[in-house]
Amino acid sequence: MTFTPSTILFGGDYNPDQWDTETVREDIELMRRAKVNTATVGVFSWSKMEPSEGVYELDWLAEILDRLHAGGIGFFLATPTASPPPWFSLAHPDALPVRPDGARLSHGSRDTYAISAPAYRAASRGIARALAERFGDHPGLRGWHIHNEYGTLDYGPHAARAFRAWLRAKYGTLETLNAAWWTAFWSQGYGSWEEILPPRATQYLHNPAQAIDFRRFCSDEMLAAYTEQCDEIRAAGSMAPATTNFMLPTWNHLEQWAWSDAQDVVSIDHYLDTRGPDGEAHVAYGGDLTRSWGDGPWLLMEQNATGISADGRWYTKSPDRTIRNSLGYIARGSQSSLFFQWRQSAGGSEQWHGGLVPHAGGSSRAFATIERLGGILESIREVIEPPADGRLSDAEVGILWHADGWWALETPQMPNDALTYSDEVRSTHRALWRSGIETDFVRPGAPIGRYRVLVVPCLYPMSEETAAWLHDYAASGGTVVVSYLSGVSDENLRIVGGGFPGRLRDLLGASSEQIDVLGPDETVDLGGGLTGTEWSELITLHTAEALHLYEDGSLAGFPAITSNTVGSGRAIYVSTKLDQVSRDRFFADVAAGAGLTETAPGAVGAGVEAIRRRGRDADYLFLLHHGDETVDVAGEGVDLVTGGRIEDGFRLPARDVAVVRLRRGATVRIGAEPSASSR
Ligand code: GLA
Repeated sequence: MTFTPSTILFGGDYNPDQWDTETVREDIELMRRAKVNTATVGVFSWSKMEPSEGVYELDWLAEILDRLHAGGIGFFLATPTASPPPWFSLAHPDALPVRPDGARLSHGSRDTYAISAPAYRAASRGIARALAERFGDHPGLRGWHIHNEYGTLDYGPHAARAFRAWLRAKYGTLETLNAAWWTAFWSQGYGSWEEILPPRATQYLHNPAQAIDFRRFCSDEMLAAYTEQCDEIRAAGSMAPATTNFMLPTWNHLEQWAWSDAQDVVSIDHYLDTRGPDGEAHVAYGGDLTRSWGDGPWLLMEQNATGISADGRWYTKSPDRTIRNSLGYIARGSQSSLFFQWRQSAGGSEQWHGGLVPHAGGSSRAFATIERLGGILESIREVIEPPADGRLSDAEVGILWHADGWWALETPQMPNDALTYSDEVRSTHRALWRSGIETDFVRPGAPIGRYRVLVVPCLYPMSEETAAWLHDYAASGGTVVVSYLSGVSDENLRIVGGGFPGRLRDLLGASSEQIDVLGPDETVDLGGGLTGTEWSELITLHTAEALHLYEDGSLAGFPAITSNTVGSGRAIYVSTKLDQVSRDRFFADVAAGAGLTETAPGAVGAGVEAIRRRGRDADYLFLLHHGDETVDVAGEGVDLVTGGRIEDGFRLPARDVAVVRLRRGATVRIGAEPSASSR
C-alpha cells in the first residue's frame, strides 16, 4: 500500500489526558493557528483507557477525537501497549521483563513488559480490539500507531519457552542446532530443548551463535506481537493503514526489512544525537534508511521541535534548524513532519523534553517557528504526490544494510570491541553525503541493477546466496566496495576458512591470512592521504591489484586497499577502518570514478544540501542551506516556499530553505554569479 495522504501530515503526539478542558480548548485553537493537521493520540494512555482489567473507558477519548475532528485535525490512534498500567503489573508479575542478570524489573517507568508473556499479549490484543471496535471507522482516523518503539528485551521464563519454540522451528533437530552453534566447544552440546536458555548472565563469554539467534528471535517475537494487534484491528473491521514507529538510535532490536514488509507504511522516530553540524548528516542518514526500508514514502512520526539531547544535556535546537531538519526528512520521502510532543508536559519524566507548545506557551519564539513551518509545509504540499513508477530518489549508490551485521559485531568474541556496525555504516553514509551523493540502503538479494556503486560495510555473517548476488552485480558492471569484517562467517557466525573474507575471496580476488588489530591511538598510513585505524589485515593478491599499500606499521608493504576486475565491473576491498577524512576522500574518488556527480553543482562547496525528491509530474529540489553566507542559485524552476520563479537567479540566505519545482532531471547551479533580482 502506498501511503499518500492529501497533504503533508503536520503535528505530533498529543497527550490530552494530562490536561484540563480549558487547555485542550486552547490546544485545538493553537493547532489551527499553526496549520497542524495531525495528532497522534493515546500512545501512553493505557491506564486511562482500561482502568481495571477488561474495563474499557473510552468516552473521554471519544470526546477528544471528536473535538480534533471538528477542528479539522486528523489523528493516528495509538494502541497504548508500550506502557502497561500499574494494575496490570500487580496482577501479572510474570509479565514484567527479566534482565540478563535475572533481576525482574518493577513497574515505575514505561516499556516494562515481557513480550512473550501470555497475559501481556492477551491484554494487548484486548485493548487493540476495544479501540478498533469503538474508533475503527471514525472519519478523523488517519491510521493506527501500534505500540511505541518496540524494543524491550526479556530474558525470563516466558522468553526461554518462546525462544526454544523459535529454535525448534528454525533447526528442527538438536543435532542441527548443535552443529550450527558449534556447541562442541566448551561442552555446550544440548541433549534436550529444555536445556537451552536465552543468553542470560553467565560466567564468561556467551556462545555467539546463541547470542545472535536470540536477537533474531526477539525481533520476530516482537513482530508477532505487532501482527497480532493488527489482526485484531482488521477483525474489528478497521482498514486504516497501520504502522509502528521504529527508533533509529545507537541500539537496534529489530530486523527492519522483515518489519517493513509487515507494515502499511514505515515510520520512525528520529532524534539528533549531536548539536554540531553532523546533526544534518544524521537527518540524511535517518531519512535515507527509512525511505529504503519501506521502498517508498514513509512517515516521520517523532522528532524534537526545540531540543537536542547529547552528553546528558538538553541543548536548544535553533528555529532555522527545526525547519531545515523537517524539510530534510520530507526531501527524503517523508509524508509528514510530526513531533514528540504537542505540548511540553508540566510534570513527569519528560518535562524538559521539547514540545511544539513550550512551557512558555503559544506566544514564544518556539511556537512562532512551528507556525512558520506549518506555512511552509502547506506551500510545498504537492511534493508528496509520488511519481508513477513509485521511485522517490534517483540514488545510484546503495549501501547494503542488515541487522545481522549490527548484532554480529555485538557478539562477545569479536577481536576489537571498538568496532560497531552502526559506526561503519553511518561513517560511510556521511562520507557520501559530504560529497553531495544521494544514497539508498539495500537489502540483501534486492534488485540492484540501477546502482553504479554498492557498498558493503561490516556485514560479518553472509549467506552463499548473498555472496553470489554481489558477484553477479559486479560481473554485470557494478562497482562493489567491501569493508573489513564483511563476509567473514556464515549465518551462524562460523568463520569460513581458507583466508578472510571466506565468502568473498573470489569476488575480491584477494584474501587475508591474518588480522592485525590496531591500538586505540594507533593509525596506519595508506599513502595518497589515506589513514587507517582500528584494524588491518595481511593480504595476498590473487587476481586483484593493490590500490593502496600499508606504508608503515607491522604490515608495511602489504596491500591495504585492493581492486579486482569482475566481468565488466569490479570489487574493491578496504581492509582497514578509514578515518572520516580519508573516508570522505576515498568515497569521493569512488563516486567520481563511477561517474557520479553531486545533485546540484556547487552545492557542497557552498554549504548547501541539495536533495532531489521525484514527484508526480516534476522533480523537487530541496535546498537546505546549512552555511553562513548567502549564496546564489541559478536555474529554471519555481521556489514553492516563496512562490518565486528562479529563472533570473535568486539568493538563498544563510540557514534558509528553498524547494524548487524543476523539470524532470533538471538541476540548479549554486554559487553562480549574482543576478539582478534577489529573493
Ligand atoms: C521516544 C518516545 C517518546 C519520547 C521521546 C523522547 O521517541 O517515543 O515517547 O519519549 O522518545 O525523545
